[in-house]
Amino acid sequence: MIEDKRWNGVYSFEDSPYLMEVLTELRDKNTDSIAFRKGLVKLGRYMGYELTKTMEVEEIKVETPLEETEGIVIKDRKNVVIVTVLRAAIPLMEGLIKVFEHARVGIVSASRGKAPKFEIEMNYVKIPQIKPEDTVIVTDPMIATGSTLLKVIEEIKKYGTPKRLIVLGVLAAPEGIGRIKTAYPEVEIFVTKIDRELNDHGYILPGLGDAGDRAFGAPIKLPILPQVHTIE
Ligand code: URA
Repeated sequence: MIEDKRWNGVYSFEDSPYLMEVLTELRDKNTDSIAFRKGLVKLGRYMGYELTKTMEVEEIKVETPLEETEGIVIKDRKNVVIVTVLRAAIPLMEGLIKVFEHARVGIVSASRGKAPKFEIEMNYVKIPQIKPEDTVIVTDPMIATGSTLLKVIEEIKKYGTPKRLIVLGVLAAPEGIGRIKTAYPEVEIFVTKIDRELNDHGYILPGLGDAGDRAFGAPIKLPILPQVHTIE
């Protein structure tokens, strides 16, 4: 885990060959949806393991069948709330929950409109109560303009003030990180890698494309059919 010198509390995993190999597979345009989802699950799981290194531990005594010895518990591991931003964060959450199996889970649907406004629509929000001892992990694979996350963080804050508020993603653009850290300096950000920039459509470069479409397939736009009401 490397702290990026441009901000406080922003970390990438460029020092992990395993995570970089998984990321390479996700970037590859020939990786199909099955492998893409599996890759996101792996990243969620291993980034979750890495996160536990930043959590408080308590030394305890444990009885083996033979004798007493030293052990530890990770105190914060049981006080985790994962907030999943639909849709592409679902496989990331699946991986994270393998490490934080006690986690309470919030689900938020937030979709970004088209350039240049990138307006955010949030039409489903289910977040559990957040307690002062909680670590909230907001999962969103792509931290691009940061607009979605700014809205989601604003919403999360209505449910309580946690001990730590973490954003966990796959890739981030410096623009998005900058906006989040300016608005919420206390938010910690963990991503596998910080990429170069955004293009005019708000996509991360070099990036991996649209994470939702790659994981679940591109949605089609239905023609608007006239509504026919029949009375039986
Ligand atoms: N969302 C994506 O899925 N990909 C990007 O590059 C930016 C936002």
